[in-house]
Amino acid sequence: MQILVTRKVDEEYLQPFYQRGWQVEMWHEADHPMPRTQLLESIRHADGLFTNLADPLDQEIIAAGKKLKVISTMAVGFDNIHIPTAIQMGIPVGYTPGVLTEATADLTFALLMATARRIVEGAEVVREKRWPGWGPFYLTGQPVYGRTIGIIGMGRIGEAVARRARGFQMPILYHNRKRRVELEHELGAMYVGLEELLSRSDYVVLLAPATKETYHLMGRDQFKLMKKSAIFINVSRGQNVDEMALYEALAQHEIWAAGLDVYQEEPLPADHPFRQLPNLLMLPHIGSAEIDTREAMVKITVENICRGLVGEPLLYTANPQVYER
Ligand code: GLV
Repeated sequence: MQILVTRKVDEEYLQPFYQRGWQVEMWHEADHPMPRTQLLESIRHADGLFTNLADPLDQEIIAAGKKLKVISTMAVGFDNIHIPTAIQMGIPVGYTPGVLTEATADLTFALLMATARRIVEGAEVVREKRWPGWGPFYLTGQPVYGRTIGIIGMGRIGEAVARRARGFQMPILYHNRKRRVELEHELGAMYVGLEELLSRSDYVVLLAPATKETYHLMGRDQFKLMKKSAIFINVSRGQNVDEMALYEALAQHEIWAAGLDVYQEEPLPADHPFRQLPNLLMLPHIGSAEIDTREAMVKITVENICRGLVGEPLLYTANPQVYER
């Protein structure tokens, strides 16, 4: 068997492949993707594919994998993978839910607090020797404790963020495909329509997966519904937000600030207007970037591939339909 690994990872993680006498082709860079032409060429020889959220696994690329028996992505989101093609070809697609829930919720809350309390601006002022001294309203931000949080997308990570918010005595509103009545009882979360969530929340936190239904879920009309003092946080996918609408809402102070971890195009293009906004805090897609979590994600990805190649069900399958055929 031949496994294609599209990012450089430590060889020790790949031992389960070597122990079975399988061959590995690994891309030599950890922080840059395999070029499309190379991916198209290499996938032809692969029985298993170890991928990630930055590989554009569209119809053409998956279809080129004539020998492919399993794909596994080291991510919880699999919007970069053309699932219908994988189903049609009978290829199970593995992913890594669960292990990154708490790490991503921590980062979401850190971004929320850093945006509200202008933590990064403050740190830069000290480091760059621009700190004028204490002032009555110097670097004042928005309160977090006791303010209302509105969570769009109450899945695993949304729920973990809600638990953190409860510790801060924040009333919790949520909007989701399905109502989560058990969380309403346990956390006092209140299910509301999107418009009500937007107009009542001090913090609007977007945690929905990228689907056809969530494409540009946040646009001009939605930002207009938010309070002028409100903060928008996105740790899901850039496609869920109309970035030009967010740019305008921030530039015209229709909302107070935003914190983003994800973008329509990653890395953020050099000339992106977001960089001109002082009330926007940007992180480089590091929601799950915590050592133990990433290690667990790599291990699950390897295990999924091992299982797929011997015809066993994967630990986590994004397209269980392949097993129903
Ligand atoms: C991160 O964005 C992931 O989907 O794992």
